[in-house]
Amino acid sequence: MNIIVIGSGGREHAIIKKLRENPEIDRIYALPGNAGMKEAECVSIGAKDIPAVVEFAKTNEIGFAVVAPDDPLVLGMVDALEEAGIPCFGPTAAAAQIEGSKVFAKNLMKKYGIPTADYAVFDSVQEARAYCRSAKTPIVVKADGLALGKGVLICQTAEEADEALREIMEDRMFGDSGSRVVIEEFLEGPEVSVLSFTDGKTVIPMVSSMDHKRAGNGDTGLNTGGMGTVAPNPYYTSDVADRCMKEIFLPTIRAMNEEGRTFRGCLYFGLMITKDGPKVIEYNCRFGDPETQVVLPLLDSDLFTIMKAVREGTLAECEIRWKNASACCVILASSGYPKKYETGFSIDLPEHPKHGAEIYVAGAKLKDGAVVTGGGRVLGVTAVAPTLEEAIRNAYDAAGDVHFENAFMRHDIGKRALAAKGE
Ligand code: AMP
Ligand code: GLY
Repeated sequence: MNIIVIGSGGREHAIIKKLRENPEIDRIYALPGNAGMKEAECVSIGAKDIPAVVEFAKTNEIGFAVVAPDDPLVLGMVDALEEAGIPCFGPTAAAAQIEGSKVFAKNLMKKYGIPTADYAVFDSVQEARAYCRSAKTPIVVKADGLALGKGVLICQTAEEADEALREIMEDRMFGDSGSRVVIEEFLEGPEVSVLSFTDGKTVIPMVSSMDHKRAGNGDTGLNTGGMGTVAPNPYYTSDVADRCMKEIFLPTIRAMNEEGRTFRGCLYFGLMITKDGPKVIEYNCRFGDPETQVVLPLLDSDLFTIMKAVREGTLAECEIRWKNASACCVILASSGYPKKYETGFSIDLPEHPKHGAEIYVAGAKLKDGAVVTGGGRVLGVTAVAPTLEEAIRNAYDAAGDVHFENAFMRHDIGKRALAAKGE
């Protein structure tokens, strides 16, 4: 069977490498993919170009599609492909609203009693300002729509909240995503990412993980798309997992069914473990990046079989096994990221990375036949080992053999997780 994977980042590279383990799959096309994805044929069709993707699928005997990024999901890529007779892994546009609109997600949680931060919604900047002046600080201001993971501003004072509201609602720094805002209570506690497979009836959580969103060591500097991950996350104890299943995962699946928006695909729960128990910080309608780069290497079952079961509604019959091990992914980025950075530097990769590490390429392009840097986050190096400590050590050791000009990485990925484990 020939399949397509929509998207171009490290997450998509990890999905493609895992799908390659299935002998049923012949050709994998990445739309658009990137120059570092050796396991797929890259086709230069944009991930949001729905008519072109459908046309490509119809003319290339595509038997299955994996739609990985949020934008095409929210825009209805799965609806369009399914209508054209191409089975897909991923939610419909109606279900993807769980990420596409924070107002939708918050109202859903309130209606169905799913634990989350208290909040208020405003489409008038004057009313939002008045609310912030009387509210307790710190306070969190979020743009309603998609904003590349950057539409969340944590404000220490009412003045900072004023400034955030100006940027989001008046200057429209995230475009129309800022026509409404959610203003939220500030929560405290360790964060856990839990990706899950669901067919709308059964929900199977994957191994938990921890992202490192800030650009600098010690969680300093600007927010990024993620500078590294570890799995499993030590804060996700079996007690927490049980509570999450009962209070969050199953209620969310049921709520989406009740609303006529059955969710099939990967539902990502961004959780905070507060002193009052686990609460939802955000939902994503897709695999996380770079969480996927530590979660899928720990999957001991066939990904394609699971994806087909999700599409068919037979997930309950799937046996999903995880390696009894830990994983660490270290991201190598272009200096300056997440602000301005230069690209076009040649990437020097070891043919056989040390410790069996995997290299997932996120931002690369071809220049005169050579693979060069082409994005802010350039690649991730993932090592799997029996202990978290070893996984971290091996990931950094293997990352030391990757070279490109202007590279930078954080040097403390997994440090907090290790401290929490007491390893
Ligand atoms: P989001 O895009 O909603 O995941 O938010 C990005 C990051 O902002 C989260 O990973 C948290 O670190 C932080 N954040 C979001 N909402 C809250 C909140 N209510 N309280 C504290 N931190 C938050
Ligand atoms: N790593 C967080 C996300 O994928 O949104």
